[in-house]
Amino acid sequence: MAFAGTGTIWMNGKLVDWKDATIHVASHVIHYGSGVFEGARCYETPRGSACFRLDAHMRRLQQSAKIYRMDYPLDLAGWQTAVLDTIRANTMKACYIRPIVYRGYETLGVNPLTCPVDAAILLWEWGAYLGKEALEEGCDVKVSSWSRMAPNTLPALAKSSANYANSGLIKMDALADGYSEGIALDVYGNVSEGSGQNIFVVRDKIVMTPPIASSILGGITRDTIITLAHDLGFTVQETVIPRELLYIADEVFFVGTAAEVTPVRSIDKITIGAGRRGPVTEAIQRTFFDVINGEVPDTHGWLTYVYEDEAALRAPQRAVAARS
Ligand SMILES: Cc1ncc(COP(=O)(O)O)c(C=O)c1O
Repeated sequence: MAFAGTGTIWMNGKLVDWKDATIHVASHVIHYGSGVFEGARCYETPRGSACFRLDAHMRRLQQSAKIYRMDYPLDLAGWQTAVLDTIRANTMKACYIRPIVYRGYETLGVNPLTCPVDAAILLWEWGAYLGKEALEEGCDVKVSSWSRMAPNTLPALAKSSANYANSGLIKMDALADGYSEGIALDVYGNVSEGSGQNIFVVRDKIVMTPPIASSILGGITRDTIITLAHDLGFTVQETVIPRELLYIADEVFFVGTAAEVTPVRSIDKITIGAGRRGPVTEAIQRTFFDVINGEVPDTHGWLTYVYEDEAALRAPQRAVAARS
């Protein structure tokens, strides 16, 4: 969906009109991919708008910047305040949140250190990433002919713009073959992740996901799902997953801030389980949506309310009381 092109964007501490939030074509990031960014979401809940795991997202932004030797003069609290201020300035109720730290305009050459470190925060409305229908029906995917980055090449744990050149190849490979998404293997041939999602496999009620060392981004939704699956009483294993385990799994699902929890119904034209959302995926998905939408008590402290006055005006946990 095209941008509405309205509202304001935070740029190095100033709010500027969407149309004026531009950078010079000679900026380092454009030529060398020297940016790190985040993708978080703000949801409309019964108590008002709330960001999901904002602290974890901003911490990962700081860590991505650290890996790339980019210092930006904001601490964790400062980043969170900047995001909340931007949402308030745009009076958004629900939105996707995209902070980015990047090497700006000064000189051009491979060495990024000669260029300033700049930052921006933009917001837009973004619905179900793989389509609303896929949340229930599941999606058809392929194992990509592109692998994730080898260790010690591009750091997978940094959410860097450069890594998304690889993600783009995986996505285009899938789309060109008529699939909605691709699953990348790591360079050892084991399952890594989707182009912009982590992956879970369910077999005999055990919930498995590749470990951090399988060239994955350490997803915040992945961490959330591990916690919620434990809460629901499932055994969760972070374990190396060979490709063929995908085909004989009972259930497979993607997770991510954009994809949320999306079932996979076929891989390489092999039907997964019953070919639709399975019971474990459904239980985890329902719990996830209840948590992010503020429909159950926030026992893990994952929600940051944006408009405190709005939260105070409403009966706390009204929806919860109504459901129990
Ligand atoms: C490559 C990749 N893996 C995993 C994820 C999921 O991460 P998160 O749950 O933090 O959004 C993303 C999300 O942007 C991603 O781009």
